[in-house]
Amino acid sequence: MENELKIKVVKGGPYVVSGEFKMILPTKEEKMMSGNTFFCRCGKSKNKPFCDGAHKGTNFDEE
Ligand code: FES
Repeated sequence: MENELKIKVVKGGPYVVSGEFKMILPTKEEKMMSGNTFFCRCGKSKNKPFCDGAHKGTNFDEE
């Protein structure tokens, strides 16, 4: 399916959202996102809601 949005759950890492979507921030700002967007699942990112790689220094290993 063209334009299909996919969400991949990386074991011990982020959600990888592939495709085009609109992200609405708490400030009500809307951003169009495309390509691969990495969202933090471990809670350690200093750039939430995005993953900054900080999960690699933790023992977060959820599937
Ligand atoms: S999942 Fe990568 S920093 Fe949290």
